[in-house]
Amino acid sequence: METHAAAGAPQRPRVFSGMQPTSVLHLGNYLGALKHWVAGQHERDNVFCVVDLHVLTIPEAVDPAELRARSRSVAALYLAAGIDPERSTVFVQSHVPEHAEASWLFNCVAPLGWLQRMTQFKAKTHGRESIGSGLLTYPALMAADILLHDTDEVPVGEDQMQHVELTRDLAVRFHHLFGEVFVLPRAVIPTAGARIMGFDDPEAKMSKSTAEERPGHAVFLLDTPDAVRKTIMSAVTDSGRELRFEHASAGVRNLLTVWQSLDGRPMPEIEAEIAGRGYGDLKKRVVEVVVDALEPIQSRYHALMDDQAELDALLARGAERARETASRTLARMQAAVGVGA
Ligand code: TYM
Repeated sequence: METHAAAGAPQRPRVFSGMQPTSVLHLGNYLGALKHWVAGQHERDNVFCVVDLHVLTIPEAVDPAELRARSRSVAALYLAAGIDPERSTVFVQSHVPEHAEASWLFNCVAPLGWLQRMTQFKAKTHGRESIGSGLLTYPALMAADILLHDTDEVPVGEDQMQHVELTRDLAVRFHHLFGEVFVLPRAVIPTAGARIMGFDDPEAKMSKSTAEERPGHAVFLLDTPDAVRKTIMSAVTDSGRELRFEHASAGVRNLLTVWQSLDGRPMPEIEAEIAGRGYGDLKKRVVEVVVDALEPIQSRYHALMDDQAELDALLARGAERARETASRTLARMQAAVGVGA
């Protein structure tokens, strides 16, 4: 099955993506993924998931009540950022049990060496005393997420590229062992914003786990204007005055990238606007652009969170819709391997 359209479904490409509800989403999550989900949703058939089961791969960090609350909160952020629940299916991974069930089948076809080679596995286990086996088999669950929904495109930031490629490899391996079942997906990485760096360390990717330890690292989507100002005004740059993207240091490039990704104009126009000024002016301008972008998201978010019953009903409808495709694909998998009723 080459594409979702070839599977007999509507002609629009099927999109699937997800985010872990480990904390409030940050600017990297927004610019690397969420903003592009919103922009592309009208031409596509979309499924967006809050991947709560993936959070359990580091069980020491889990507070059960908080995890449940954060799953809702991340779903509300998807909607607040502009995901339209009439056009896009939004659901929580654990509400569709087919994901966990299919992940077992992928665990069984995933060669150990493929899982051990994953950059994220190496990074997340580095220096950790106790490593749960879920951290190793994490990509098998991610493959289940993507492949159960007959996905053509997976819009993600650059750090998830390797996982999407592994998903495709697992699908091909499954086909080789048991016959054709899946649509083969491809990662879609944005040209700008695919890798937003930490404001306190422009050599390291902005990440939720680092942000928890270091206050100046990230801007979160629910930060107040003051918090945004504090983080961006203290962003690491250098001692020069170079504001042309090609020649600038990593910290300045990161600030220009954030500005351009939110503003949408080409980089030369951004450079022309800031030409002849200093890094202080650049930072002030980036603060304005970020605060202006976050303000409407935050007001929609608070309105959605004020009506928990409506949000829960929306997630229940999303899970029901997601289950239709997921259960059909799981049935095809089970038939192929010889299990199931
Ligand atoms: P997660 O939750 O770490 O990140 C969610 C999305 O945000 C992107 N991202 C970034 N983009 C640019 N710059 C950054 N600094 C940055 N940090 C994060 C990520 O690339 C991602 O697109 N394994 C996934 C979740 C997942 C998933 C899936 C994704 C589970 N199943 C199926 C797609 C399809 C993850 O941990 O993303």
